Amino acid sequence: MSPPVIELVDIYKSFGSTRVLEGVSLSLFPGEVHSLMGENGAGKSTLVKIMAGLHLADKGIARMSGQEVLFRSPSQAQQAGVSVIYQEPTLFRDLSIAENVFMHRQPNTAYGWIDYAAMNRAVSEHMSQLGVSLRPQDPVLGLSIADQQIVEIIKALTFEAKVLIMDEPTAALSLEEVKRLFQVVERLRNKGVALMFVSHRLEEVFSISQRITVMRDGRVVGSGPLQEWTTEEVIRKMVGRSLDALYPKEKVEPGKVVLRARDLRRAGVFKEISFEVRAGEIVGLAGLVGAGRSEVARAIFGIDPLDSGEVVIGETALTNHTPQMAMAAGIGLVPEDRQQQGLVMEMTVMRNVTLTVLRQVQRFGLVSKEKEREIAAQWTERMRLKGHIEEPASILSGGNQQKVVLAKWLATRPKLLIVDEPTRGVDVGAKSEVHRTLSQLAQQGMAIIMISSDLPEVIGMADRVLVMHEGKLTAELARSEATEEAIMFAATGQTGSIRDQKAKATSNGQS
Ligand SMILES: Nc1ncnc2c1ncn2[C@@H]1O[C@H](COP(=O)(O)OP(=O)(O)OP(=O)(O)O)[C@@H](O)[C@H]1O
Ligand SMILES: [Mg+2]
Repeated sequence: MSPPVIELVDIYKSFGSTRVLEGVSLSLFPGEVHSLMGENGAGKSTLVKIMAGLHLADKGIARMSGQEVLFRSPSQAQQAGVSVIYQEPTLFRDLSIAENVFMHRQPNTAYGWIDYAAMNRAVSEHMSQLGVSLRPQDPVLGLSIADQQIVEIIKALTFEAKVLIMDEPTAALSLEEVKRLFQVVERLRNKGVALMFVSHRLEEVFSISQRITVMRDGRVVGSGPLQEWTTEEVIRKMVGRSLDALYPKEKVEPGKVVLRARDLRRAGVFKEISFEVRAGEIVGLAGLVGAGRSEVARAIFGIDPLDSGEVVIGETALTNHTPQMAMAAGIGLVPEDRQQQGLVMEMTVMRNVTLTVLRQVQRFGLVSKEKEREIAAQWTERMRLKGHIEEPASILSGGNQQKVVLAKWLATRPKLLIVDEPTRGVDVGAKSEVHRTLSQLAQQGMAIIMISSDLPEVIGMADRVLVMHEGKLTAELARSEATEEAIMFAATGQTGSIRDQKAKATSNGQS
C-alpha cells in the first residue's frame, strides 16, 4: 500500500476543562475515501478543524509525506494542499465563481491588471475535468449549496489539494446533488487525492468509502478497510450498544382532527394544498428538495403569509396569523435551519430549551431556576444531549444543537408539532431516540407533521404520507402503500399508478 498523504499521531485537544480529543491517530491514503463516523459530540469536527488549521492541537503531530507539519491558519493548510469543505460553504456571494476561487491571489496580465480571462479559463478547465457545468463568470449569489460546494472543491484543486476533507457535505443536499458530488469525489479519488468524509448517513458512507474509522468520546474505537465493516458493527462501535429498532413506531388509533388545511396558496410557491391531521397521527410530508414542503410548514406556522386558504387548528381558524398566534393556538415548528431559526447561540442550552415554555414556568410568579433546570434536563437527557445545559448553545457540536431545537419544541407539548428534517445531522443512536419520542408523543395524542428527505425515516414513522411536487400535493399514501418507489414516483411528478407504469415497462420488455 502507498504511504499515507497525511498522518495524525496521538492528537489531544481540550476546550477549557472539556477534553475533546484524547490520543487520536489517523492516516489518509492517496486515492482513498476515508469516512469518519461517531456520535454527536464525538470530536469529528474538532479533528477536522485541527487538520484545517482552525484549531491547534494541544499535543500530537501531523505529518505530510513523512514530514512534520504544523498549520497555524487555514491558508497555511491550503498552501500545503489540505482543503476542507463544510456543510455551509463560506464563499463571497457578490463575487463571481472565478473570483472566489482565486480570492487574494488573482493572476495578473503583463500590464498588471487582473487577468480575468486566465482565471475563467483555469476554472473552466477544472469544471470540465470534474464533469460539472457552471459558468466561471457567474456570481456565487443564487448558486445552490451543492454548487457552492463544487466551487469550494475547484478552489481546493487550484491549490493542488492532496487532501480534501468534507464535514457533513451532504446534509443539505438533494438526492441528485449527492449523486453528482459523489461523481466528483470519484474523479478526485482517481486522481490520487486523499479524501476524508464525515457523515451520519450510513448508506452514503458504505457506498463511497474504502476505509472507515469510528470515534467515540474523543478516541478512535475502530478503524479498517470497508470490507471489515458491517452497518451493525459501525453502529455498535459508535453508540456502544446495538440498536434494536430504528423506527419504533407505535400503532395509534387516530383521534379528532387537529389541523385542517384548506386550499392553501402562496403565489409562485404552492397551491391547492388541502389536508387534515388527526390527534395521534404522524403524517409524513415527502418530496424532493424545493418541492415546497418547508414553505407550507412556514405558512401554517405564520412565518410567511398565505395568499388564500384556511388553517384551522382545533376550533380556532387562523387567518393572517403570526407565529405567536400559531403558538398560542397550539402549533410548534422545529425548523430545518437550526443555526438561523432554531437557537439563540449565545444563550445557555437551558434557556434555549425553556424559552418557549417560559410562560408555563412563570405561571407561579418568578421563573424558578430549579423548574427551568428540571424541564431542560428532562428533555435534553431524553435526546441524549452531549454537553452541559448551563453552557452556551454555540459550543455544542452540530448534531447536539439540533437536539436542543427538538427539545425546545417538545417541551411546549403543542397540539400540532411540525418537524422539518428532524434528524438531519443527528447520529444513529439519538435518531432512534428522536423517533421513539415522536412516536410516544403521538400516542399521547399529539398530531405530528414530519417533513423529511430521508425516505426510510418517512416510511418507518408515518401513518400516512403526503407527497409534494412543484408546489402541489401529488399523492396521499396510506402506511401500507408508502414504499420508496411509490413516494419517488409521486415526488418526481409522474402521474398514473405505478402498476400501470410497470405493466408498460414489462410489455416493452424493459422491466
Ligand atoms: N469552542 C468550544 N468550547 C467548548 N467546547 C467545545 C468547543 N468546540 C467544540 N466543543 C465540544 O467538543 C465536543 C466535540 O465537538 P465536535 O464538534 O468535534 O463533535 P462532532 O463529532 O463533530 O459532532 P456532530 O456529529 O454533532 O457534528 C462537543 O462536546 C463540543 O461541545
Ligand atoms: Mg461535527
